[in-house]
Amino acid sequence: MRKSLPAKGRSRDAILAEMRDMKGGDADWQGGRVPLFVFKANDEVSEVGKEAFFEFFTENALGGRRAFPSVKRMEDEVIAMALSLFNAPDDAQGFMTTGGTESIIQAVQTCRDWTRKQRKIPTFRGNIVAAESVHPAFNKGAGLMDLEVRRAPVRADLAADPAAIEALIDDDTMMIVGSAPSFPYGVIDPIRELGALAERRGLWLHVDACVGGYLAPFVKMLGRNIPDFDFSVPGVSSLSADLHKFGFTPKPASTVFYRTPEKAAHHGFDFDQWPNGRFLTSTIVGTRPAGGVAAAWATFEFLGVEGYKKIARDLMTFVDAYKAGIGDVDGLEILGSPHLSIIAYGSSAFDIFRVAEIMQAKGWLPGLVQKPKGIHRMMSMLHAPALDAYLADVRAAVGVVRQEGESRSAIKATY
Ligand SMILES: Cc1ncc(COP(=O)(O)O)c(C=O)c1O
Repeated sequence: MRKSLPAKGRSRDAILAEMRDMKGGDADWQGGRVPLFVFKANDEVSEVGKEAFFEFFTENALGGRRAFPSVKRMEDEVIAMALSLFNAPDDAQGFMTTGGTESIIQAVQTCRDWTRKQRKIPTFRGNIVAAESVHPAFNKGAGLMDLEVRRAPVRADLAADPAAIEALIDDDTMMIVGSAPSFPYGVIDPIRELGALAERRGLWLHVDACVGGYLAPFVKMLGRNIPDFDFSVPGVSSLSADLHKFGFTPKPASTVFYRTPEKAAHHGFDFDQWPNGRFLTSTIVGTRPAGGVAAAWATFEFLGVEGYKKIARDLMTFVDAYKAGIGDVDGLEILGSPHLSIIAYGSSAFDIFRVAEIMQAKGWLPGLVQKPKGIHRMMSMLHAPALDAYLADVRAAVGVVRQEGESRSAIKATY
């Protein structure tokens, strides 16, 4: 596509009108019809985040150290609050980043550089062993650094299988990974067992709590069954958790933490061989929005433990109703035993992808998992008001698929 800049500028009103018009063609996320990409706790939390973001709209978090002590203070306090939430030791350290992918890539780079130092091999390029359910960000990071990722099959309950992971470990393995929870199945991996494995084999265990890190602690406080997944587990070296998902803060905002200062020392970039002197950053990106930092701080301060617990209660009550509704449809079953609000459901009686196709035609953007085949939903309170309409359409779609008999779907799983 090629388009010239307009020769003369247009009015703000005309531009806004056109943007609003363009949005008309987007999937209806506000109506709860998009099962990924967007998150919401409630209107008040969204407004606090938005206000804080725009309060620091122009500032640059890259300049936090030199120009904007306000931004630096908020960033430090977000990290400090998160470290206590994740039961980290007193000397653990953490950093804000712009997303789960960046947090993961940096944890991989930190592990690689720490391993190089430990093994005294400056050019060491090792491998990462993980369940097949871990996020593609590990492959993205490994690709950038010329490392290998080995994916092990999951157990029948769709959690990581420590024995299968151990079988792929060799002398070049530097990191193993557990998810809390995994994106495909919403299941928290057996982090205690993986921690024991990491300690026994002298490996770095990274816990990818990107999607669940800021929800699971509060769901656990409600007395629900949430396996230990954070620094309370011996053997966990690093942990990533995204604020812009179930921390309910505006994008872009994520966090990554290291158990020890020795490990954290390898995080970040410090360079002065250029004309402008020392260039020190704790992110892969340089410039990054201070708004993301400010909004995370404001959301933490606004909600506190009590506020997050209330959101967790509301969300899990909705998820219970959702699971019950799906379970009531003859032929549908929830895959595995998801711990939080990511759920996949499938069928051994008919082609579930065909159900997704019919739902898509009714305006529900499909989330799909291909192994085993299922419909995938990552749910926040955005989805609660649409529950009855969703279940009614699922029931109708299943009825159609049953009547079609041997129908074959053409839809493919795409993130
Ligand atoms: C388990 C897990 N890890 C990492 C990520 C990557 O996060 P981001 O999209 O913020 O880069 C996701 C995204 O959904 C995820 O679910």
